[in-house]
Amino acid sequence: QADERESLYLVSEYASKYFQKILHKTDQGKAIGLSYFKERGFTEETIKKFQLGYSLDEWQAFTDEALKQGYKLDYLNKTGVTIVKDEKHFDRFKGRVMFPIRSMSGRVLGFGGRILIADKKAAKYLNSPESDIYHKSKVLYGIFHAKQSIAKEDNCYLVEGYTDVIQFHQKGIKNVVSSSGTALTPEQIRLINRLTKNITVLFDGDAAGIRASLRGIDLILEQGMNVKICTFPEGEDPDSFAKQNTLEELTVYLEEHAQDFIQFKASMLFEDSKNDPIKKADTVRDIVNSISKIPDRIKREIYIQECSKIMDISEGVLYSTLAQMSKKDY
Ligand code: CTP
Ligand code: MN
Ligand code: MN
Ligand code: MN
Ligand code: MN
Repeated sequence: QADERESLYLVSEYASKYFQKILHKTDQGKAIGLSYFKERGFTEETIKKFQLGYSLDEWQAFTDEALKQGYKLDYLNKTGVTIVKDEKHFDRFKGRVMFPIRSMSGRVLGFGGRILIADKKAAKYLNSPESDIYHKSKVLYGIFHAKQSIAKEDNCYLVEGYTDVIQFHQKGIKNVVSSSGTALTPEQIRLINRLTKNITVLFDGDAAGIRASLRGIDLILEQGMNVKICTFPEGEDPDSFAKQNTLEELTVYLEEHAQDFIQFKASMLFEDSKNDPIKKADTVRDIVNSISKIPDRIKREIYIQECSKIMDISEGVLYSTLAQMSKKDY
């Protein structure tokens, strides 16, 4: 079993090297992949640092080369770089730019592959399937490059996507990781919790996405961490925003717009429900539910007082709701 995992690591490392070689050394790689990254504003240094690559727009180019080099089809299949079907094999990431996903210690675990031209029939990003070395719920993209800076800055920025991580690095902000589009898991939060107690969640600027993500943040509170939220202008994400601004401007924006999570949520819920008493009852339960996740009693009390003001509800009602929820006396 340990031997098999080692083989999967070796296949992944080989694949990563191969995709990088294709990007930098072949005509197709340079004309399509490399120019794509450059158009996005990534420098040569950034592309190398994140080991970005390109998978040729051919059915089996990678798999055939890997087999020729002696890698076993079984392992290529198990890491997901190759799809085996009816005795035939195909390159999973055909015609995509490649983002290797690395562990805390820097080993390649899997890949995200982005399509170059928008196409309604194909997913924008294709990711490696779960394997014995890649469990997407336990990985944070960028953690290898971010860990030192997270500890040093005593804060971690959490973004949605690969390119958000990369663009922030290029600007000079290195304490940043991404859950890569999936809902945040307790394991992912634990990875950060070992390095800092402070998380700042940076949302893409679309209201629907923010609402959908709020629930997941309670998981961060449960681990006793402090959470701030920062949103970007409508239509922008951390990547596009960072690209248009200097490091100085970006830093100032983050400092000025980062807001305590509970206060952010209370204000948003208040706006949503101020003219609707029935909805208001739901929102009270919602915010108190978040507060109930905070392990520290003093912090809970401070938040009750603040939310009472923000939502214009008596502290007594909030305390009794909290008592019902947590079955504790208040
Ligand atoms: N994602 C995914 N599959 C998709 C769409 C998104 O796995 N079909 C994941 C990717 O990890 C992506 C993240 O969700 O980076 C955030 O999605 P989105 O904001 O749509 O993409 P961006 O990261 O902004 O990518 P780009 O700028 O290249 O469009
Ligand atoms: Mn496992
Ligand atoms: Mn998004
Ligand atoms: Mn983007
Ligand atoms: Mn985005």
